[in-house]
Amino acid sequence: MCGIIGINGIHDATPRLVEGLRRLEYRGYDSAGVATLVGDGIERRRAEGKLLNLDARLRDAPLSGTVGIGHTRWATHGGPTETNAHPHATPRVAVVHNGIIENYRELKDELIGHGCVFESVTDSEVIPQLITHYMDKDGLSPVEASAKAFKRFTGAFSLVVIFAGEHELMIGARHGTPLAVGYGDGEMYLASDAFALAPLTNRICYLEDGDWVVVSRSEAVVHDASDAVVHRPVKTTAVSGALIGKDGYRHYMLKEIYEQPQVIGDTLNAYINPVNNYIALPDFPFDVAKATKLTIVACGTAYYAGFVAKYWFETLARIPVEVDIASEFRYREAPLPEGGVAIFISQSGETLDTLEALRYCKRQGQKILSIVNSPESTIARESDAVLYTMAGPEIGVASTKAFTTQLTTLACLAVTVGRARGAIGPERMQEIAHALREVPALAASVLAHDERLKELAQELADSRDVLYLGRGAMYPLALEGALKLKEISYIHAEGYAAGELKHGPIALIDDSVPVIVLVPSDNLFEKVVSNVQEVCARSGKVLLLADKKGIAKLGDTVRWSVELPTCDPLVAPLLYAIPVQLLAYHTAVLKGTDVDQPRNLAKSVTVE
Ligand code: F6R
Repeated sequence: MCGIIGINGIHDATPRLVEGLRRLEYRGYDSAGVATLVGDGIERRRAEGKLLNLDARLRDAPLSGTVGIGHTRWATHGGPTETNAHPHATPRVAVVHNGIIENYRELKDELIGHGCVFESVTDSEVIPQLITHYMDKDGLSPVEASAKAFKRFTGAFSLVVIFAGEHELMIGARHGTPLAVGYGDGEMYLASDAFALAPLTNRICYLEDGDWVVVSRSEAVVHDASDAVVHRPVKTTAVSGALIGKDGYRHYMLKEIYEQPQVIGDTLNAYINPVNNYIALPDFPFDVAKATKLTIVACGTAYYAGFVAKYWFETLARIPVEVDIASEFRYREAPLPEGGVAIFISQSGETLDTLEALRYCKRQGQKILSIVNSPESTIARESDAVLYTMAGPEIGVASTKAFTTQLTTLACLAVTVGRARGAIGPERMQEIAHALREVPALAASVLAHDERLKELAQELADSRDVLYLGRGAMYPLALEGALKLKEISYIHAEGYAAGELKHGPIALIDDSVPVIVLVPSDNLFEKVVSNVQEVCARSGKVLLLADKKGIAKLGDTVRWSVELPTCDPLVAPLLYAIPVQLLAYHTAVLKGTDVDQPRNLAKSVTVE
């Protein structure tokens, strides 16, 4: 994964590299480092852990120079130690790398055979070693050596290289993971995304796969995979340079949970006409309603949003839907029908497995629709049509407002497709549009249960395992609740379809396992009530999330309950998402974990 940045500049590079890294920390925070050209040499500062540690290192030992590179790491090969931290360097070449060099073992053996000495156990170190080898042994120039080396690497990578004594030169390459070129005033930049460069410039050129680029202070010469010089357009990006604060909240995650009424409202305003209550999506270059099949692909929380949408598309639009996680889908060579539409859901728009699944579907002739939160992201750029979620930047690693705005967008899409296919009538469409428009106010009323959920979190904090149950569209919500708890509190949690419980998982139930059950009043209400009774009969500690009807029916039977608003069952997933987020949040706070940057994770997963 990792975030990379390079500056070929006229002003001090280090503070600006560090600022860029702060904006790239969402890509990993296991270690960070910078390297600059100083005189005829290369100097580095690296530190294990968060960027704060690198900041401290730089305060003790400042780094001058106007040409430099920086890296924030999500460890793949080799632990998160200082030795394994980037930039990796030889006396002549320093490199920052995002991705995995899959054939690093054989390259490393070859280079060791030539007498090279490696200091780290990373895959990335072969990059400066190989380029240096071609310069030293074959007498190639930095540009020739780099071009030759890039062709030897397999896997996905983007990288930036600087060379000792070459103050007018920086080289970048993109192969599978993104790299943007920034145009400044007498300076040029490279970085994983436009967000990192936003304080420096809004003039951005996105490299295409296989491109490599030679960057001086005044220009960028882009080469494609066959080394031909090519032109890539320079665009003015709308990505903001402002840093997002916590607005008085203790964590970004809490702030983002509380933003949901607003951002769900913003998303609805984009897709529902307030005057006639008509759901109107932008025109696509293809007709989703005529699709023979929908294939929905995403990862993690975004996948659960897609899973909820499967229920909506099937019931409202009567269209066959397949939903899968991208890392499985992309390799199973799924046969896809002519006339199919593939939908990709991603907050970051950069998740590698989702992107590769998209490319697979494109090769299979599917029309590509993506639901993305980050404008200008790779997934957005490679899609035939995009629906943006209006969540705004999501900084907390655990996805919250991105999820509910994905649901909002997917609900609007399912209703529109259902109407266009004649599967629902105009009245039902109006009814749903109305129900959706009520969600922001209802979401605010759910947030009013925060104190109660905080108390209940104490019941979860000492547990070893927690179960989440739901049926229908609440089943993906149960999975999402369990994921949220796992990733930020480190408590083991599982989500199950409530009806599946008796086929095995019921053996887990005893009086030490909290069972969180999501029970809105929908067509499966009575079925879930029976499932709750089954759990209670086995001394299960049930925490019920239900509306008035559910509380009336089960409130006396279960250990704890929280009453949520009564709503159209279709919009229930948007509301029931909030208490599961808050439960996970408060449990994590009680456990003292790093809520916004939980261990081992990164916000954007750009390796497979
Ligand atoms: C969990 C979470 C992840 C992401 C997943 C996909 O809270 O945030 O599971 O949902 O990594 O990321 P995007 O949506 O950026 O493709």
